[in-house]
Amino acid sequence: MSILLNNHGYENDSWYQALSQTLPNQTIIRYDQVSDIEKVRDQIRYAVIWNHPTKDLQYYPNLKGILLLGAGTEHLENDSTLPEVPIVRLIDPEVLKDMGLYSLYWVMNHQRLYDCYRQQQRNTHWQRHDICQSQDYQVTVLGLGAVGIEVAQVLIRNGFNAKGWDASPRAIADLETYHGKQQLADALTDADTVVNCLPLNKGTQSFIDAELLGLFKHSTQLVNISRGAIIDDDALLYALDSDQLDRAILDVFAVEPLDQQSRYWEHPKVTVTPHMSGATYARSSAKLIAANILRIENAEKPFPLYQKRVDNH
Ligand code: GLV
Repeated sequence: MSILLNNHGYENDSWYQALSQTLPNQTIIRYDQVSDIEKVRDQIRYAVIWNHPTKDLQYYPNLKGILLLGAGTEHLENDSTLPEVPIVRLIDPEVLKDMGLYSLYWVMNHQRLYDCYRQQQRNTHWQRHDICQSQDYQVTVLGLGAVGIEVAQVLIRNGFNAKGWDASPRAIADLETYHGKQQLADALTDADTVVNCLPLNKGTQSFIDAELLGLFKHSTQLVNISRGAIIDDDALLYALDSDQLDRAILDVFAVEPLDQQSRYWEHPKVTVTPHMSGATYARSSAKLIAANILRIENAEKPFPLYQKRVDNH
């Protein structure tokens, strides 16, 4: 049995190593190194992919499963020729933990005024400021998938107020939730920080636009840890320039790496990080992938399964 590693966008060596160690009895075929893919297509039983060449997956006649190297599924939406095999997302609890802590860090940075204290130190200025206590500090999480739930729960565990919004109704223990366009204003108007965890799809492209930003308080901080294209960049820059919004912490961008010319790099109210809030770990991920391959081999259901989107978000 052979496993295809077809990972575009990130380096392949660590994935190759981790998969070979975790699945020592399988042949791992690297798409970027195979001399003639046509000769091995029949052997491939599983495809471990990220940003695969569109339409390629239909050409493996014995394929039994597709395993993604990440949580996002927007790349699949452009491929109308996906074979009828289980497609499994990669949601690693280690990565969820990192994303929760990344959000907590920036929420605390905002709530405790650490930027202000850094500036004061540069000016050798000693002054203590009143702050909004954590139990009075409100965070709204947009998108209540695995990432959004983790972010909300970490914040709540650390004494912050968090509530969540999603396109469709979600019942989550101990979390106040809102849904649908009609409840967006209620979810956003008192937010001190908004953390965007929405998935990117046709319904969420430029979802955070001028109208939505108009619902924020002037003191709100926006944190984006899902996909850059969910934000209308011109609208965000306008909101920051015109003091409609306090700060933006951006880990993801419509085009990555972020263009050298982007205004985000130099903007005094923007922090740029290079899509690192939840970078995958090849070793722990390879174990999850191997477990799902075993499930498929044993005719069990792998998880979490990718479900083709039927609604707007
Ligand atoms: C990373 O961005 C992922 O989708 O897992």
